[in-house]
Amino acid sequence: MDGLHLQKDRRVKASPEMRVGMDSGTSDAPTPPAGQDAEFPGWWRALVNLETIRAAAQRLEPVGVRTPLQHHDRLSERYRADVFLKREDQQAVRSYKIRGAYNFIAGIAAQLSTPGVVCASAGNHAQGVAWSCRHLGVRGTIFLPRRTPRQKVDRIRAIGADMVDVRFVGTTFDDAATAAEEYATHAGATIVSAFDHPATVSGQGTVMLEVIQQLGAAPDVAIVPVGGGGLIAGIAACLDGLDAPTTVVGAQPMGAPGMVRSLAVGHPVSIDIEDDFVDGAVVRTPGRIPVAVTADLVSAIHCVPEGRVCTALLDLYQDDGIVAEPAGALAIAALDDVADQIVDTTVVCILSGGNNDVARYDEIIERSLVYRGLKHYFIVELPQQPGSLRRFLDECLGPHDDISLFEALKKSRREYGAALVGIELADRDDLGPLMARMAASGLQIEPVTPGSAIYRYLV
Ligand SMILES: Cc1ncc(COP(=O)(O)O)c(C=O)c1O
Repeated sequence: MDGLHLQKDRRVKASPEMRVGMDSGTSDAPTPPAGQDAEFPGWWRALVNLETIRAAAQRLEPVGVRTPLQHHDRLSERYRADVFLKREDQQAVRSYKIRGAYNFIAGIAAQLSTPGVVCASAGNHAQGVAWSCRHLGVRGTIFLPRRTPRQKVDRIRAIGADMVDVRFVGTTFDDAATAAEEYATHAGATIVSAFDHPATVSGQGTVMLEVIQQLGAAPDVAIVPVGGGGLIAGIAACLDGLDAPTTVVGAQPMGAPGMVRSLAVGHPVSIDIEDDFVDGAVVRTPGRIPVAVTADLVSAIHCVPEGRVCTALLDLYQDDGIVAEPAGALAIAALDDVADQIVDTTVVCILSGGNNDVARYDEIIERSLVYRGLKHYFIVELPQQPGSLRRFLDECLGPHDDISLFEALKKSRREYGAALVGIELADRDDLGPLMARMAASGLQIEPVTPGSAIYRYLV
């Protein structure tokens, strides 16, 4: 296995013998001794099951968080399947996160003391918590990584108003989680877990209960974005409880494959984040319950390149007028990975969130162009003499090649000066002829390769 894609046997049922040796965990239900989760398949069913998900749905009913399920013609045609989008971007907080957060807080609101609740979040869980705090009259403290997009921070403050206190710490969700734990210990606040508590996972599972009601049956395939794993765990547990034959597929960002790495060893592990672009789904350590449920029930987790996520996000915007955030477009971007397996099936993609910061669109467009092979960068050594730039333009550029960046860097020697040149192509196949013309020109031209330090700075 290459660590990026995982196939598992699905639907392992817990037998009574598997319960032997289990500890009492965070709730009254037993959990396996630390490090032995893989030896007790199905242990999580005592914590998250159809009953807990139905109870969550009942709790959510009066606050009206039902979202549309829409048939999507363009994707259905492209993948020769019936593709539906579950529009969780249409929630009051523009993501499904309100489900888990509200279910959690409403369940304990009556017993909460003054410090109220505390949470760590990459931005969307915080909005769910803020909305629930305000709705239920509970005080909340929210820890966010410093790089949380501005749009999300503004929304959290607007939604929570004077019921929540927002604090910034570190660079990742996990840094925020550590700060939230410390705060909970010294202030006595209750942590609202973003993905690793039965109440949160059960709340997220209500997405699938709704899908089945709206579709009139369970879908053949459900594609779900994965960060800490709360959403996929809730959805898979719901389908498991209903004995539905649905194949559940996860989609993780390529630069943050925490769930894939954890499944490979059978328990949650912390990874180094290689790319934090898909901010909603970037988590170093997935949850214990999510890893266990996913190991037992999920068919595959696909790691989706960030550039493909950007392309899916832009298509949604341009073709459908849908504002998705990167994590929200993950499931749709994963359709390519299952294209051969979904022909003639009914597929539901969870469009999980729509909190996109408008300031991110330049980067989204750039990453999409690079992913589609339409944008390339070069260092060009230009002789310091009149007409050399013209020579580069005349001899190297094709009729449809466009210079999108030109930056004189420095004189490398007295007779030469280097320039950084970005070229946008009309068609990815134009790259071969461009490279051939560059080679024939006799100019010294070096492609800036993906992965190099300068490339990471550019894209
Ligand atoms: C929009 C969106 N999609 C997907 C995810 C990943 O969810 P989970 O952590 O439940 O796997 C998140 C997490 O914050 C999110 O905000």
